[in-house]
Amino acid sequence: MLVYLNGNLVPKEDARVSVFDHGYLYGDGIYETLRAYDGMLFLADKHLLRLKSSADAISLNLPLPLEHIGKALLDTISANKLGDAYVRIQVSRGTGEIGLDPALCPAPTMVIIAKPFTAYPAGYYERGVSVAIVKTRRNHPLALNPSIKGTNFLNNILAKIESIRAGAYEAIMLNWEGYVAEGTISNIFLVKAGVLYTPHLRTGILEGVTRGLLLELAGKESIETREAPILPRDLYEADECFITNTTIEVMPVSTVDGRPVGKGTPGPVTSVLRRAYQDEVRRCLKTKSS
Ligand code: PDD
Repeated sequence: MLVYLNGNLVPKEDARVSVFDHGYLYGDGIYETLRAYDGMLFLADKHLLRLKSSADAISLNLPLPLEHIGKALLDTISANKLGDAYVRIQVSRGTGEIGLDPALCPAPTMVIIAKPFTAYPAGYYERGVSVAIVKTRRNHPLALNPSIKGTNFLNNILAKIESIRAGAYEAIMLNWEGYVAEGTISNIFLVKAGVLYTPHLRTGILEGVTRGLLLELAGKESIETREAPILPRDLYEADECFITNTTIEVMPVSTVDGRPVGKGTPGPVTSVLRRAYQDEVRRCLKTKSS
């Protein structure tokens, strides 16, 4: 495996970063996770724009213009001869003396890891997964805004630990006011009486690229969508529920806190949207190759 490290493709074993990197010392960095399908980076522009907005939000200068970062992503995929791939780009503050001042780090560290994509078990999609509403609240937007895709993940890790203890696949965090926010690595949707609901961005969540596409696709499928405040009881009483992100795409949720969602099996709206997502991937692949 070759890893992109500050402009070079180096063997995995040699891809080392200093212990004085502020990404390591303080979790001071940002990242994006992308999917490649048959070598094509899906929605790369959207991920690159979010990388830029995360960088701006933490006053970090990206080491390269976005077009060059896009090329570095593709170069890393092809250097590893990958078709279906998981791709992670991470930009940390860089190496510097101990201390919080970003000026201590003269240059950011940019790493790209591309590895073969391992499909999630088919049963997750056929039967759905469990989620647990956890006690750990999502960061307040005025403390550490969840709209920043930062590498400082302790908020999510604390929630994940709770869901592991509860035996659930994903943890759902509430915001500071008790409204449903998002999963540790996913956005959440529910369906009630044929309407698709998802927490509004004002709830304090990451604006998921998959979330955005799903809202668009739902519109095309004539499914009414609402970005709205959602309470835990709305999840308990939902007809359907699913979580989304770049790698899981659209994953049905069968239980919330051990209570079955709807009939406890993936519902029709979830299936339509999952198919619509896959069709969109195929459409992009076709456009790319024609
Ligand atoms: N996680 N919310 C959080 C907290 C996330 O970390 C993610 C993505 C999402 C969904 O975003 P998107 O649809 O753009 O992937 C929502 C990625 C997959 C990760 O951590 O690797």
